[in-house]
This record gives sequence, structure tokens and C-alpha cells, in this order.
Amino acid sequence: MWRASVLTIFPDIFPGPLGASLAGKALASGAWSLDVVDIRAFTTDKHRTVDDTPAGGGPGMVMKPDVLGRAIDATGTDQRPRLLLSPRGAPLTQTRVEALTGSAGLVLICGRFEGVDERVIAARDLEEVSIGDYVLSGGEIAAMVLIDACVRLLPGVMGAAASRAEESFTEGLLEYPHYTRPQSWEGRTIPEVLLSGDHGKIAAWRRAEAERLTRERRPDLWAAFLQRFRTGSHTG
Ligand SMILES: C[S@@+](CC[C@H](N)C(=O)[O-])C[C@H]1O[C@@H](n2cnc3c(N)ncnc32)[C@H](O)[C@@H]1O
Repeated sequence: MWRASVLTIFPDIFPGPLGASLAGKALASGAWSLDVVDIRAFTTDKHRTVDDTPAGGGPGMVMKPDVLGRAIDATGTDQRPRLLLSPRGAPLTQTRVEALTGSAGLVLICGRFEGVDERVIAARDLEEVSIGDYVLSGGEIAAMVLIDACVRLLPGVMGAAASRAEESFTEGLLEYPHYTRPQSWEGRTIPEVLLSGDHGKIAAWRRAEAERLTRERRPDLWAAFLQRFRTGSHTG
């Protein structure tokens, strides 16, 4: 079973949205498990202190390495990747998410305040992962984002395997537009080709739309897609 261990000073936030819908059903059915570790349980003083002032001065507080180190050690010595959610980390991608679902699970460390003492990152070999170029007030929502993205790819969690194959990023392209009934809504109609029943034409239209949207909205993805196409590593 794919196991997520989350280290946080706000354990009550979990499972939150991970307890609902697809991820929640998969959690209830045992497709994955979640264990939430309260970092404060590893403090030794009566005030249960998890942070201290930054060495060298400056604003805010820093999470203490001794407390965090003990909390990480308590998750065991298994081979799961240990990720620290951090705006400094490598940006999360669908490719990385897919790779992470191939492991036995994850140990996720949620930062708070100004972040985490650098020594615990080095000593416990934490890999820093970012969910985007903006700053959240804590790592908990980022951990949920990461877990949600992984869980939906676990075997048996998503209904149709085909929906995964055609999703945004799977092929390096954004997904084509979707429509459903009613056929006409507020004067807007479903593109004729989608009602034609001609599967070849529908596939070609969807592909053209996926390419158009990627070109218009994400020049970075489009350039990478063209590059792969030219070098022959494109499989689509
Ligand atoms: C207020 S932030 C610390 C920001 C830090 N002082 C900096 O400038 O990089 C507190 C915590 O939120 C989490 N966090 C904030 N933004 C994030 C992001 N974009 N991706 C992942 N985690 C993030 C991290 O765990 C971080 O330690």
C-alpha cells in the first residue's frame, strides 16, 4: 500500500480535502494510507517549543533541527522519499508526480514560519519540492496538493485509464476543451465535429485543440514539446 506520512505542527488540518471524493474513497478502501505526525510531540520542554529566532538576526522564526530530526526519525528507516515542501525546491511536475507514485509512498515535512534549520535538511537528506512560484504560509496545503496528485494515479483509484492518458501534461500538451449536454446553452453550441460520431475526426480535432491551447497559453511547454518531437523522443 502507498503510504503518506506527513509531519506538521497542525495535524488537525488532515485529511481535510484528502478525505473527500476520489482521494477520500481511495483512503477508505485502503488504496493508500495517511499517517499524520505531530511535530510538537517530539519537543522536550514544557512549552512544547518547535521554533526559535534566526541565527544572525532578522524577522520571523525558524523550525528547530533537534525537534524536527526526532520527528523524522520516528517515521522509520524505510526507503520512501523524504520531501520538504519549500518554495526553494524544484517545481513539482506531472512527470515527478508519476515517478513518486512508483515508490512505496512519501514522507512529507511541512515547514512553517521562515522555514526549517538548514542542518536538518542536510542531515536527513530532505529533497525540497515547491508547488509553484509563490509563498504559502505553511507546507500543509502544498503537502495535500502533492498527495492528491499522486493518489489519483495509484492503481485502481481513477475510473477510466483513458482519462489519464489524455490529461494535461501526460503528453507534454494541455488538454483539449470538454463539452456536455445541453447541446445549446445560452446561444453557445457544442462544436459540430464532436456530434459527428466520426472518431477519427474527433481525435484529430482534439489533438489540434490541445496543440493550439498549449501554443497560446504555455509557450514553455510548447517549446519543450516541439523539441521532443524534433529529436524523435515524442511517443504520442
Ligand atoms: C512562509 S513559508 C517560508 C518562506 C521562506 N521564508 C522563503 O522565503 O522561501 C513557510 C512554509 O510554507 C511552505 N511553503 C510556502 N510556499 C511554498 C511553495 N510554493 N511550495 C511548497 N511549500 C511552500 C514551506 O514548507 C515553508 O517552509
